[in-house]
Amino acid sequence: MNLPGSPYFAYRQGFLHVEDLPLAHIAAQFGTPCYVYSRAALTANLREFQAALAAHPLGVGGLVCYAVKANSNLAILNLFARMGAGFDIVSGGELQRVLAAGADAGKVVFSGVGKSATEMEQALAAGILCFNVESTAELERLDAAAGRQGKKAPVSLRVNPDVDPGTHPYISTGLKSAKFGVPIADAPALYERAARMPNLEVVGVDCHIGSQLLDPAPFSEAVDRLLVLLEALAARGIAIHHLDLGGGLGIRYRQDETPPEISTYLTPLLDKLRGREKLKIVLEPGRRLVGNAGLLLTRVEYLKPGAEKNFAIIDAAMNDLMRPALYESWHEIVEVERKNIPGATYDVVGPVCESGDFLGQARALAIAGGDLLAVLSAGAYGMAMSSNYNTRPRAAEVLVDGDKAHLIRRREHIADLYAHEQQIPEDPC
Ligand code: LLP
Repeated sequence: MNLPGSPYFAYRQGFLHVEDLPLAHIAAQFGTPCYVYSRAALTANLREFQAALAAHPLGVGGLVCYAVKANSNLAILNLFARMGAGFDIVSGGELQRVLAAGADAGKVVFSGVGKSATEMEQALAAGILCFNVESTAELERLDAAAGRQGKKAPVSLRVNPDVDPGTHPYISTGLKSAKFGVPIADAPALYERAARMPNLEVVGVDCHIGSQLLDPAPFSEAVDRLLVLLEALAARGIAIHHLDLGGGLGIRYRQDETPPEISTYLTPLLDKLRGREKLKIVLEPGRRLVGNAGLLLTRVEYLKPGAEKNFAIIDAAMNDLMRPALYESWHEIVEVERKNIPGATYDVVGPVCESGDFLGQARALAIAGGDLLAVLSAGAYGMAMSSNYNTRPRAAEVLVDGDKAHLIRRREHIADLYAHEQQIPEDPC
């Protein structure tokens, strides 16, 4: 089996390794559950995106802005910042994180439908590259915030091109029915309005249609619609300096999924923009940079055979990786050590008190109690969406570099979990 994330995640003599380190060593040193990332995989993914962009005449001078929400660990942000990446943020918290990780504020774009006035002020003070604005009310709030600081806020409108990305409904964003963006038909009038606001500077057009796209066609359809918009804006004398094509490129979770290569996805889009060499391209990939660069390492607590089903009860749960419970998404689950023992079919479940607490269903595994398992393709929206449900401390995170393991987030202590809580005083009697 060719594992998602290979060659950085591969078996050697029956033992699963991350780069040159056996996962069993990581479990022994840091415990489980534990997120494990490969530095080489992370950097190769970003480099591939940057190279695909730079290889095209339209991509020269473009910027890959990593979508921080996919995995916001400081060590990963810092790695990407050192490689020249920009960042796509969606909150004041993410702004503070990327700045703490050494990001250049001038390479940060700010997305999201609900930016608060405080978040806008923080981003203006930091001097970000662009606000991706999603409504008229937000334009007005941003204009006022910039006025208070005596600045001009750089803006793109996030337009909703009404294309169906053909992905899970919870992660589709480019349809008319979505809360995201402004309808593309309304965009020219709204751009005129933005251009007249005293404290805004129109700089770009932005679009993001959804996540985990395995078919490049919807991206292409979206660009066709953006081209019509660019013409309409030019006719109104509104100059556009950059085009932000969002993120959304999928990864392989299952053996039978074949997401496009990065250049196969990008080159045809850039080809459509020929003749517009002055336009800078911004991309906001999240999942594609980190998803297959990480896994969740977990230990089997118990095997529980049943009349209808066998359960493998593990020490990771829906609070650690909620994608299966939330989207019924599939993550490959494999043995860390391949043993010559009889296999069986298991539902792989956690200790949380919910029937939705499964990480995989009907999986063929050859395991015994106490064995280690790896839940693959968990680098994106894994740790970032984890919670403390059932008062479970969040997992540790480890970044492997060759044969070295760096702890990049220590496992939470139980006391961390209630550190912000207080009891009320005793009743006076
Ligand atoms: N840009 C914007 C404006 C976004 O909303 C997103 C993701 C991205 C970029 C990055 O998309 P990516 O390249 O990662 O597909 N929690 C879900 C995914 C939610 C995606 C939300 N927006 C999951 O686990 O599948």
